[in-house]
Amino acid sequence: MNARKKIITIVGARPQIIKSSAISRAVQNVFASQMEEIIVHTGQHYDENMSKVFFEEMSIPTPHYNLQVGSGSHGEQTAKMLEGLEKIFLDEKPDGVIVYGDTNSTIAGALAAAKIHIPVIHIEAGLRSFNKAMPEELNRISCDHMSTLLFTPTETGISNLSNEGFKMTHSEKATIDSPNVYHCGDIMYDNSLHFSKVAQQFSSILASENLNGKEYVLMTVHRDSNTDITENMEAIFSAVDSLSIEFGIIFVLPLHPRTKSTMKDQLSDELYERIERSKLIKVIDPVGFMDIIELEKNARMLVTDSGGLQKESFFFEKPCVILREQTEWTEIVENGNAILTGADRSKIISAFTILYNKTDFTYPSFYGDGKAAEFICGKIVSELN
Ligand code: UD1
Ligand code: UDP
Repeated sequence: MNARKKIITIVGARPQIIKSSAISRAVQNVFASQMEEIIVHTGQHYDENMSKVFFEEMSIPTPHYNLQVGSGSHGEQTAKMLEGLEKIFLDEKPDGVIVYGDTNSTIAGALAAAKIHIPVIHIEAGLRSFNKAMPEELNRISCDHMSTLLFTPTETGISNLSNEGFKMTHSEKATIDSPNVYHCGDIMYDNSLHFSKVAQQFSSILASENLNGKEYVLMTVHRDSNTDITENMEAIFSAVDSLSIEFGIIFVLPLHPRTKSTMKDQLSDELYERIERSKLIKVIDPVGFMDIIELEKNARMLVTDSGGLQKESFFFEKPCVILREQTEWTEIVENGNAILTGADRSKIISAFTILYNKTDFTYPSFYGDGKAAEFICGKIVSELN
């Protein structure tokens, strides 16, 4: 009989903290006798409303370690993480390291572990935008190719990995040279199902933002390809300004700190002042998970460049304008639930208008059955040496 597996989970950015709650829940509720989880926070995100709030609301155990790397250039941030993580791995000698998604914390965790022969478990494997100008694309491709267990949320993920030479047959004991790939559904769907039942009870966001009974659009922007390019920010916010007036609809924007800090510099003074003065555009601080679920469930539509919000729009059956040129979540675009616009003002207005008026949406079960985390833990327990 195998001993209890010691697994280190790496989190750092907001969506990873949220994703990790599904695994922590499965470990606590089902696998406690077979798995021990040690949580390491790289400190990539550190504001209270980008990190601490999620640990509290989602009952995620307090991290055993926090490297507190903070913000920095890609190289600087990743290097600090690598150094700190390697020390922890050498000390703790885990049986495996879980990394999520495609951030700098993901690649740092995977590289630090793989180099010292600790199996990497990649959750959200196989996703591709086919745009290597995105830092996330480099992170996710590299991470997949040094993983021992790969868990992909979608059929598209399986097909991407297959095209890159991954074998879909499973060996009894996976290794880095003979990894096992599984299609398991999306742990974010697990979370949305789990927390949507209680969100209303814990959130007062609709009342506090005076949105009860009102039609509004939920919008987020944080991708560097939008926030760091003046014309793109101008095009996006100019489209929002026009749409809010044309449709007489409120836009609620819980803005990522990256966007909040660059918005004033990136937008022309005239547009910035229009947004500031607008009664229909509400820029607010980032909100917790209960609040965002309530905002998503009650919105008319979503407009976003966030990977997480794209899918959550589908989970809560809301159409979505995607402020990107490509998406890794291709199913929702192919199925007509979302439209890609990039940062093109006229495409944003046209996509919004189409989706606002469209009524014949369908919601096939692209993202599993809400039990992805338990499936993943089961495989970790049975397949890691
Ligand atoms: C990172 C991920 C991105 C993910 C996003 C989720 C990488 C390369 N990018 O982007 O894939 O979609 O997280 O939110 O890993 N900041 C704060 N407070 C914080 C965190 C960040 O003020 O708590 C500001 C800082 O000015 C920082 C900037 O946001 O420089 C960007 O943060 P960073 O973690 O580097 O990248 P994100 O844009 O958050
Ligand atoms: N989110 C949140 N509060 C906010 C904005 C987003 O809790 O104010 C959640 C959102 O519901 C999703 C996740 O954060 O689950 C997405 O994170 P983000 O957009 O930062 O990153 P991405 O998914 O694009 O990597």
